[in-house]
Amino acid sequence: MSWDEQFSVAYDEWSAHMTEDVPFYVGLAEESDGPLVELAVGNGRVAIPVAKATGRTVVGIDSSRAMLEQASRDAAAAGVELDLREGDMRDLELEEPAGLIYCPFRALLHLPTWADRRRTFERVAAALRPGGRFAWNAFAFDHQIAARLDGQHQDAPVPHSLRYDVADNRIDILLDAGGASSLWWTTKNEWLGLVDVAGLEVEALYGDFDRSPLSPESRDYVFVTRR
Ligand SMILES: C[S@@+](CC[C@H](N)C(=O)[O-])C[C@H]1O[C@@H](n2cnc3c(N)ncnc32)[C@H](O)[C@@H]1O
Repeated sequence: MSWDEQFSVAYDEWSAHMTEDVPFYVGLAEESDGPLVELAVGNGRVAIPVAKATGRTVVGIDSSRAMLEQASRDAAAAGVELDLREGDMRDLELEEPAGLIYCPFRALLHLPTWADRRRTFERVAAALRPGGRFAWNAFAFDHQIAARLDGQHQDAPVPHSLRYDVADNRIDILLDAGGASSLWWTTKNEWLGLVDVAGLEVEALYGDFDRSPLSPESRDYVFVTRR
């Protein structure tokens, strides 16, 4: 089985600890007019409650067919409509400008290079209405956590090991059964540089989903930006 297939089957378990982001993104969706778009929608963990709370269709883009199939099943079971599209967020293009584009659960860290991220941010800015928002969250870079994880093997949700490549700021998740995925950690200034080159403005930078300000103890960046 590929990474995508194994990941999609076990994704509920991978993501079970992450719940506090849902009301945050639901709140942003309720405040916005116009189309709602989730980048890297996965199995719809966030998009389904967003669609339910707003009564609006959420466009969900993901490069994994296996994840989209899961999202489609879960959306049908929840009785909500998602407009699921297989594609790469780097190629984002919408028919109608969005009121809110969001990317939960650190998924932007799957983009390997500055050029990939800049392209994505520029596409997002071009796809937003004036005043429309782009929101995402990602780890704050922490060498100590990365160093602790390096070489660890974990049995659940599927057997895998973790590897830290210091020079590339990269964590690899290597499945015992084959298949791998990587996260390239990003600093605050890199995020701010991306916001700048894309012509967006930072509306808020939180350190948590409870909207507390970023502090030295924060381990997540929660960005809300505006076109
Ligand atoms: C951690 S999951 C996040 C899923 C969902 N947004 C959530 O919050 O639970 C990361 C997702 O990013 C998708 N992904 C990775 N790189 C991508 C890319 N370049 N374009 C679109 N989706 C991508 C993966 O297929 C996976 O479904």
